[in-house]
Amino acid sequence: MKKVILTGDRPTGKLHLGHYVGSLQNRLKMQADPNNHIFVMIADQQALTDNAKTPEKVQQSVTEVALDYLAVGLDPERTTIFIQSQIPQLPELTMYYLNLVTMARLQRNPTVKSEIQEKGFNESIPAGFFMYPVSQAADITAFKATHVPVGEDQRPMLEQTREIARDFNRIYGTETLVEPDIILPPKGHGRLVGVDGKGKMSKSLNNGIYLSDSEDEIQKKVMSMYTDPNHIRVEDPGQIEGNVVFTYLDVFDEDKEKVQELKDHYRKGGLGDVKIKRYLNEVLQARLKPIRERREEYAKDRDAVLEMLKSGSEKAERVAAETLAEVKAAMGINYF
Ligand code: TRP
Repeated sequence: MKKVILTGDRPTGKLHLGHYVGSLQNRLKMQADPNNHIFVMIADQQALTDNAKTPEKVQQSVTEVALDYLAVGLDPERTTIFIQSQIPQLPELTMYYLNLVTMARLQRNPTVKSEIQEKGFNESIPAGFFMYPVSQAADITAFKATHVPVGEDQRPMLEQTREIARDFNRIYGTETLVEPDIILPPKGHGRLVGVDGKGKMSKSLNNGIYLSDSEDEIQKKVMSMYTDPNHIRVEDPGQIEGNVVFTYLDVFDEDKEKVQELKDHYRKGGLGDVKIKRYLNEVLQARLKPIRERREEYAKDRDAVLEMLKSGSEKAERVAAETLAEVKAAMGINYF
């Protein structure tokens, strides 16, 4: 069956290993299936809902994220990569959808609730931020996406999108909008823990390894990684659970037997942190080197990257325009 897949990222910085295991790898797999039509959106408008005062950060991140996409192997010939703000039909759809959503419903969205806490908005919540789930419903329905691969934290957005699509179709007696299904990351590939072991890898916690990091930066981060604080002498038995080095080996090392041996040895005692870190460093360097090199190659010609984004945005706009025309026809506001 043909699937229309839409997903996106907020451009607020470069992409890291958490993005790689949580979403990019999955996109590459989906891209390889010719039955899939994939749209990948750089959600700059959504990023601006809480970065309105630093638009340059968002603007610069758009190209950085695009470079990360190309570096890991997203192929603009097969995947439509586009910039949200370049598709005027999206805010137009949002305007109509907003009338189908109550303030109370917006207030109930658990992801928005916790973001409001995290960002310390208190009583000064930007209205645009508060209603971004509706704008996200526009992103998804404009392309009649059947599937949306996202993390668990995005489930409330998908639920709201389905409600909006359902309500729209019922109220206006149409079948224009598609209710999308969520695709969650494969088990164990949810959000990767950061190098400090304290929380998920994220820019704000400054605990990430980036796809663009140099060999030295990667090595430094690996060597300072959180392990088992009670594993003081080499001969002490060590703990695997919560030990970031082993978490990463589980995710990134294809040699599962070797990982098992290392775990057994570490548990028993006699295997030092420096050794396992050096080994993880090799594994990660091997994985990241080709990505970084491709990224450097693409970064030599940023105009070409912008050209790619322009042509992707044009393609996306044509699709969104068709949906918008249907939406307006269903509402009877296609006057001329
Ligand atoms: N909210 C998503 C995030 O924070 C980004 C996003 C915006 C998105 N629009 C989307 C994801 C549409 C999937 C579909 O990661």
